[in-house]
Amino acid sequence: MRLLRHLASLPPRETWRLVRRRLPVLRNAPPWTAADLLASVKHRQGVRFAELLLRQEAILTRETNWKPLDFEAVRVVEIGCGPLAGYGPLAVFRGAASYESAEPEWDPDLFTGGKIAQEYLYPLHADFCALYGPRMDFETFRTALREKIAVHCSGFEAAPIGGQADIVLSQSCMEHVFPLEATIDKLAEIQTPQTRFLHLVDFGNHYLTPSPFEGLYEQPPEAYIARRGKAINMLRSSDILTLFENSGIPARMIPSRVVPDAYSGTIHAWWRERYDDEALFTQLALVASTGE
Ligand SMILES: C[S@@+](CC[C@H](N)C(=O)[O-])C[C@H]1O[C@@H](n2cnc3c(N)ncnc32)[C@H](O)[C@@H]1O
Repeated sequence: MRLLRHLASLPPRETWRLVRRRLPVLRNAPPWTAADLLASVKHRQGVRFAELLLRQEAILTRETNWKPLDFEAVRVVEIGCGPLAGYGPLAVFRGAASYESAEPEWDPDLFTGGKIAQEYLYPLHADFCALYGPRMDFETFRTALREKIAVHCSGFEAAPIGGQADIVLSQSCMEHVFPLEATIDKLAEIQTPQTRFLHLVDFGNHYLTPSPFEGLYEQPPEAYIARRGKAINMLRSSDILTLFENSGIPARMIPSRVVPDAYSGTIHAWWRERYDDEALFTQLALVASTGE
């Protein structure tokens, strides 16, 4: 019921996109349009990435010896930035030398179009000036975006991104990648021990249910994926940490939302045999570099 109420509260095209992704026969969403993005509660708020970074760095600073990321004159790479270049505008505004991402749903004409400039980038620039100071005027910002941002329309694992990255980011992406191993191997190719990275992973069911794990643990992951499609890969935080270890990348995993209480299903033995309660009920976690 909550899910239906949520879907009914969204603009019709956003509801249609969400439903299409989960329909067994279609399993994909229509291409984004500027109108869709500007009507989307999530995507129209570019400042969301600044807020996410503030929150994630606050958690890491409290829990570890994390020092805030410094974007000045560095090379930034993001996995799966989404249709509006994710952290790209923030990185460029804060002085990054370059920003690269790989995003299978990328449409360059959309990002450079006039409607997105006026209704997304213009207010975003004002928000950045308030947060980080008036580092550049709007036209300089737009020029810098054109010159410094490169997004490849492909999976990250297949993208022509080489060399060495100074900062690597992703936001709610790793749980959607099939298989994730190739992506972590690609990270190992472009990272050095000095590379700083921060990935937010959402281990929930991606529905607005009372427990974010509703429906996930009543069967083994293959059965869930066979029914719901390749929307989420069902890896838990410990699996992702193991993938980093196997690729030789030192990483730490900081749970940032653990919610055991509302879950009322019966957990299948497959999950109980492999994971403790912390791994099962961590909805959000940060995978971060260790060498600060
Ligand atoms: C939940 S969305 C998050 C998008 C964006 N990071 C944000 O927070 O708005 C997950 C993204 O991962 C992308 N994705 C899926 N598989 C990928 C892959 N192999 N490489 C890079 N991105 C991928 C999807 O196209 C989608 O845009």
